[in-house]
Amino acid sequence: MLRALELADAVLGSTSPNPSVGCVIVRDGRIVGEGATQPVGGAHAEAMALRQAGDAARGAAAYVTLEPHAHQGRTPPCSDALIEAGIAAVHVAMVDPNPKVSGVGIEALRAAGIEVSMGDGAAESAKLLEAYAKHCATGLPFVIAKFAATLDGKIAASSGDSRWVAGEEARAWAHGFRTRIDAIMCGVNNVLLDDPQLTARPGGVMAERQPLRIVADSRGRTPLDANVLGPGGKTLIATTDASPAAWRAAITAAGAEICVLPTDANGHVDMAALMRALGDRGVLSLLVEGGGVLHGSFFDAGLVDKVHAIIAPKIVGGSAYPAVAGTGVARMTDAVSLRDVEVVRLGADVAFVGYV
Ligand SMILES: NC(=O)c1ccc[n+]([C@@H]2O[C@H](COP(=O)([O-])OP(=O)(O)OC[C@H]3O[C@@H](n4cnc5c(N)ncnc54)[C@H](OP(=O)(O)O)[C@@H]3O)[C@@H](O)[C@H]2O)c1
Repeated sequence: MLRALELADAVLGSTSPNPSVGCVIVRDGRIVGEGATQPVGGAHAEAMALRQAGDAARGAAAYVTLEPHAHQGRTPPCSDALIEAGIAAVHVAMVDPNPKVSGVGIEALRAAGIEVSMGDGAAESAKLLEAYAKHCATGLPFVIAKFAATLDGKIAASSGDSRWVAGEEARAWAHGFRTRIDAIMCGVNNVLLDDPQLTARPGGVMAERQPLRIVADSRGRTPLDANVLGPGGKTLIATTDASPAAWRAAITAAGAEICVLPTDANGHVDMAALMRALGDRGVLSLLVEGGGVLHGSFFDAGLVDKVHAIIAPKIVGGSAYPAVAGTGVARMTDAVSLRDVEVVRLGADVAFVGYV
């Protein structure tokens, strides 16, 4: 199961809207086939592993990180493939959280006389599939708020300069994570002040698969020569009726997509509406990279599921550019508290990773 989890981990971020699953087929104590979910439309993990195992699958045991699906989707049912291949036992890490299919694959395997055991690797698989599980339950993406802040909670100096708050190791860690998500988002002030590419460049190299880039820009201030419109992933600009039609046409001509949404009480793009639109198009995970005004809207609206906070041992002072602006809370007891916090040492910096 550990190997199956490794395989699932390696494809996280490349399979949406399908879950990232790993499968290993073992016969006489030897791995005879293994596979992971292919990008949408491609084979599922079980089919990949069975293909590799060939005849050796007969009488073998399969280890799979998620319940095999039993319905005809874009690909044939995986439970049927396991049954037809003559698999004798299936070890499943977790049931499918999709309420429409949960338990159905396991039932189909048992009905065919296959021995099914559950739970080995359940916690690890549930963590890998946390975005998929949220999307199954709510239709919305799993939202991770990420920022790099100083000890006094600033994401930039008073001029807006933010290069760099955190050191090289922290930046490399953050880039590595960008390969594991479906979409990455920032506010338009960040585009104007920082001009980020919003691409995944682990080790300084442009990753083959890039997340969808999203800019929250209510009034159409993204310049046509912004890096976010340059090479990298696809770009979506979330805007409102307040942006000029000519700007929208020019952005579309530059190859980006425009999504016109309602405004919130502050006249900004309504983030809840944007989350629904992203969920509808199969975005399972969204990394919100700030700045603080955008983070403020996400926290005020209760839209954040997980936080990646990198804290650098520096002090900036002043009152500009907090990591999270918005309305905030009046009392400490109402502060957003993280649970299951992991602390990662990144050179001189520290990352806090936890769930809201
Ligand atoms: N250290 C870090 O981790 C980090 C990360 C990112 C940015 N930064 C720094 O942060 C600074 C920019 O941050 P910022 O806080 O001023 O601005 P920001 O969050 O980047 O952008 C805020 C702007 O986004 C637009 N927006 C659209 N919909 C929104 C919504 N629902 N909620 C909030 N904003 C929405 C608004 O402008 P419209 O009303 O015109 O649409 C708003 O003024 C830069 O200096 C950048 O270098 C640092």
